[in-house]
Amino acid sequence: MNYDFSQDLKQVQNRINHFMLAQFEHIDSQPSPLVEAMKYGLLLGGKRIRPFLVYATGEMLGTDANTLDYAAAAIECIHAYSLIHDDLPAMDNDELRRGQPTCHIAFDHATAILAGDALQAFAFELLTKSSEKSTTLSAQQQLKLVQTLSQASGVNGMCLGQSLDLISEHKQVSLTELERIHRNKTGALLSAAVMMGFLCSPYFNDKNLAQKLAAYSNAIGLAFQVQDDILDIEGNQAEIGKPVGSDLDLDKSTYPKLLGLEGAKQKAQELYQSAVKILDEIEFDTTVLRALAEFIIQRKN
Ligand code: IPE
Ligand code: IPE
Ligand code: MG
Ligand code: MG
Ligand code: MG
Repeated sequence: MNYDFSQDLKQVQNRINHFMLAQFEHIDSQPSPLVEAMKYGLLLGGKRIRPFLVYATGEMLGTDANTLDYAAAAIECIHAYSLIHDDLPAMDNDELRRGQPTCHIAFDHATAILAGDALQAFAFELLTKSSEKSTTLSAQQQLKLVQTLSQASGVNGMCLGQSLDLISEHKQVSLTELERIHRNKTGALLSAAVMMGFLCSPYFNDKNLAQKLAAYSNAIGLAFQVQDDILDIEGNQAEIGKPVGSDLDLDKSTYPKLLGLEGAKQKAQELYQSAVKILDEIEFDTTVLRALAEFIIQRKN
């Protein structure tokens, strides 16, 4: 069977966009700049790689998409919030995201900050709903989903990475330190996406499988940010939908800065190889996860 990754990604994008839009219908409030800014940051564009990983992993393990929708939407809400805040003047001060003005430009700074905050809370609210429509998720699974997403988002995950990223501007950090920044600011959420798909599956107590999926997800999670660093240099603004050269302007610590562009590409390649090697040890059909790993290091946006 020939697997068409881009077709599959499109289907996931349609599914999750439709699902997330529908969730706003349940928000019991008047139309407001806050809700508009949340929708702006969440719904306009985006590759939906984290939801894709939730569905791909869960479905590989025999879980149907209806059971995975809430987890997929929850992690995308956290991601959208992280981007809205990442673009703020106090952080990366970027004015373009997904080909449009960043949230704080389209609205105002305070509204963007609050939209990020509200998306974060919304993510966990969605996770609490994941048993309403599906009878297949136990309370124990839901608790593990909350744990996984909160740990990946906060002081031992994305926020930590973002903080380290900011204090490492204008500094020469070691490769070990750089890896720590990237694994936290970006790797943690990508890894959580895989683990959340796993946690929604009937195998959620299988420690051995969890370990293998964690190893795969750690490799692609780091590769994702290495490729993001590469695209900041050789990407095309129209394609990536964000400014090229932002890292150079801010003198960020990145893989190309430490290893050179070729060294960074080699690093991405090595991470890809290690990710697919782990997949060989998994006794399920890993076609989709394999294609995703390849997409991550070959993507142009
Ligand atoms: C961009 O993430 C920020 C990073 C964590 C590198 P994505 O490349 O997944 O951004 P969207 O969601 O597709 O816009
Ligand atoms: C962002 O890394 C990671 C996040 C947690 C948002 P970057 O700052 O490199 O992401 P982009 O390039 O602005 O999307
Ligand atoms: Mg940043
Ligand atoms: Mg940024
Ligand atoms: Mg970047």
